Amino acid sequence: MTNLLETHDLHVYYGQNEALKGIDLTFEEGGITALIGPSGSSKSTYLRTLNRMNDLIPNVTITGTIKFRDQDIYAPQTDLVTLRKEIGMVFQQPNPFPFSIYDNVAFGLKLAGEKNREYLDQVVETSLKQAAVWDEVKDHLHESALSLSGGQQQRVCIARVLAVSPQIILLDEPTSALDPISSSQIESTLLKLRTDYTIITVTHNLQQASRISDRTAFFMNGEVIEVDDTKKIFMNPARKETEDYISGRFG
Ligand SMILES: Nc1ncnc2c1ncn2[C@@H]1O[C@H](COP(=O)(O)OP(=O)(O)OP(=O)(O)O)[C@@H](O)[C@H]1O
Ligand SMILES: [Mg+2]
Repeated sequence: MTNLLETHDLHVYYGQNEALKGIDLTFEEGGITALIGPSGSSKSTYLRTLNRMNDLIPNVTITGTIKFRDQDIYAPQTDLVTLRKEIGMVFQQPNPFPFSIYDNVAFGLKLAGEKNREYLDQVVETSLKQAAVWDEVKDHLHESALSLSGGQQQRVCIARVLAVSPQIILLDEPTSALDPISSSQIESTLLKLRTDYTIITVTHNLQQASRISDRTAFFMNGEVIEVDDTKKIFMNPARKETEDYISGRFG
């Protein structure tokens, strides 16, 4: 079986600073992978390379390969709009557009020229249901998304990603700006999505990583120290650095 996504010898430099030092990781279809590690270990840098968000940062140099379904995503013929539709991203701070809830979720499809109102209605509803926020917003679809709570905004942002039918969802500390109840709603949403989508999430919350992920990669100083089944990483890590980190000795 071929991998859905793989990175080989991936290096990222910000100017002279080598932030990623040759990352080899593979992602099969489905499931949740958690990226953990101390602040500054380059978890976000790694995540951003996967849908080429680092392209937007000046003075970045990226070497190595990233293959999505066997296609090199850094090849010149890659269409970035298509790539970011296939590999969607959710950020730490909920970032809905200053439009209605409906228009936030319909945004990607409208941008792609979709005008069929019934179809848009259907996708908006399905996506909001998948993101487990439909019941809370169904009577306010035409109100501003900015009027929602942070946790609701974040689930609308997940719905916005789902609406364009991605294969992979990247999340960078999606719950760290949220209260515990909203965080646990996002966690249960991700657990429901893990059968239909391939999810890669950065988290500082080790309990969260152990609760929701199937696999965990431990980053330190721009390298992957260890990647394995989450149970193995938390119960019986192979490397001393991993053990020190998960037992709270640093980071
Ligand atoms: N836009 C940027 N320009 C220059 N250097 C950057 C940029 N973004 C990150 N870096 C550097 O790359 C390294 C890794 O940063 P990154 O944000 O990827 O780490 P992280 O593991 O996500 O940290 P945190 O847990 O604090 O979010 C750091 O040394 C950081 O200073
Ligand atoms: Mg980060």
